Amino acid sequence: MQRKNALSALALAASLVCLSVPAHAGEKIWISLGDVAFGELQKLQPATRPTASVAVSEAQLRRGEIAGLATPAAALKGEKVHLVQIDEDLLPTLSEALHENQHRCGGYMHHASERDGRRALDLHAAGSVNARILTDRRSLATRPSYVIDQQTVVNPMLSQMQASNIVQTISDLSNNYTNRYYQTSGGVNASDWLKNKWLTMANGRTDITVEQFTHSGWKQKSVIATIKGTDNPNEIVVLGGHLDSINGSGTTETTRAPGADDDASGVASITEIYRTLLANNYKPRRTIKFMAYAAEEVGLRGSAEIANSFSAAGANVVGVVQLDMTNYKGAANDIYIFTDYTDSAQNTFVTNLIKTYLPTLTVGTDRCGYACSDHASWNAKGYATTMPFESSFSGDNKAIHTANDTLANSDSTGAHSLKFARMGLAYAVELGSDGPTTTPGNKTETFTGSLSSGQTKSFGPFKVGAGGTFKLSTTGTGDIDIYGRLGSVPTTSTYGCKSDGSTATETCTINVTANSDGYVLVKGYTAGSYTLTVTYRPQ
Ligand code: BES
Ligand code: ZN
Repeated sequence: MQRKNALSALALAASLVCLSVPAHAGEKIWISLGDVAFGELQKLQPATRPTASVAVSEAQLRRGEIAGLATPAAALKGEKVHLVQIDEDLLPTLSEALHENQHRCGGYMHHASERDGRRALDLHAAGSVNARILTDRRSLATRPSYVIDQQTVVNPMLSQMQASNIVQTISDLSNNYTNRYYQTSGGVNASDWLKNKWLTMANGRTDITVEQFTHSGWKQKSVIATIKGTDNPNEIVVLGGHLDSINGSGTTETTRAPGADDDASGVASITEIYRTLLANNYKPRRTIKFMAYAAEEVGLRGSAEIANSFSAAGANVVGVVQLDMTNYKGAANDIYIFTDYTDSAQNTFVTNLIKTYLPTLTVGTDRCGYACSDHASWNAKGYATTMPFESSFSGDNKAIHTANDTLANSDSTGAHSLKFARMGLAYAVELGSDGPTTTPGNKTETFTGSLSSGQTKSFGPFKVGAGGTFKLSTTGTGDIDIYGRLGSVPTTSTYGCKSDGSTATETCTINVTANSDGYVLVKGYTAGSYTLTVTYRPQ
């Protein structure tokens, strides 16, 4: 008797807490709940389907971090937590049912938006996702050196990049394809348009392919442009953004979802990177792929299929950058590097690229807190990703997912987006020009000798192949200088590269764009001895 009274007093106290969800009658609200509570909800409303579900870890259950799950042991049986949208009117009934049938309170958590709900769910799943990443990455991908040494290639290209081209692409997408939802004709046509644009830009280059990736479940296709690597074509660098758009309050053919910032801006940044590389006839040593994903706004579905297929094929994707929203400066810093669902070593590399190539820009860090864009699809497969973002998370463009996501409401000059395009180009060239320096296709020769003060000695010809590098280095004693040149023997005043530091430790490199004869000149600025190493890709 006493016991029963105590229980009902508890239930009464609990019900006061349980019903205190702030929302107005008749509104749709977001809640997350465990399997047990979800079961009660389905009894009340059998048609209810979760928007997202994740398996939770036993540790989180023990810490009592998840509402509405049975017991800690349930986690071992694969219990899940679900995000659902329900009518606010249903909440009192759900609370009642949970009390009656499960004798528990707090059977669900309320979230202010779908985004907040996904954020909560993904925190629950974080432990298991991270464990999977480590195993996958080890087996699949090469870890690049992240050495920054392509200044002579990158700097001239950076100055050729134009905000006006970015503005043009954003205008084309957001004015001509005003709803790029993955199931609408606008979404389909935007994919065809972009495919043709990228193909025309390739201008018949035989090392470039442009294709559409067909998805089985919906109409919109992803678009992929590939520049095949000359030396290490199996090592792949990916730059992506998403093609689709969404309006949170409707998804019909005539709904307006211009998505100028989210994410015509990212696709436009990528297109300007691609244009600039092509204008310079750049031939990467690794393969570079540009991707415009379908169906991002409905759960990263396009990128998930692509990342899954690359992973299943064992593809060696050495790095992925996601540009999703680049044209609205919503916070103090120019670029924010998001730290979740990304790779910390690659994030450091991208931060160093910005410091090296765009020293006037300021960089911050932030996080989405949930799998907010396509980088998460690659991250889930164990690949190294980075997501440089237009603002802090909270300072983002509030017009996204509405008819007001227009160019006029972001940066109509395209200047903000251009920063991301420049950073992305530096990333593409630094990773694209990298790869093993001594692949089986590369040849290394060494020479030793000594020189008196003022004496020179030449070496060559070395038959060097297009797309390779002609790398010269010395070690030794005294002050030895080094000069390299393609076509004829260098002099101390005519050369393709030189290194004339005050010791005998020198290096210089020439990028080889056409088959040629490479020559070297070493000079004793003071008397000394040297070991000269010449590394090159033979013709
Ligand atoms: N571009 C957004 C992601 C975003 C928005 C990042 C604001 C940072 C600040 C993206 O297109 C998007 O809307 N993603 C969804 C999640 C996805 C799984 C459907 C989102 O954030 O709700
Ligand atoms: Zn987006």
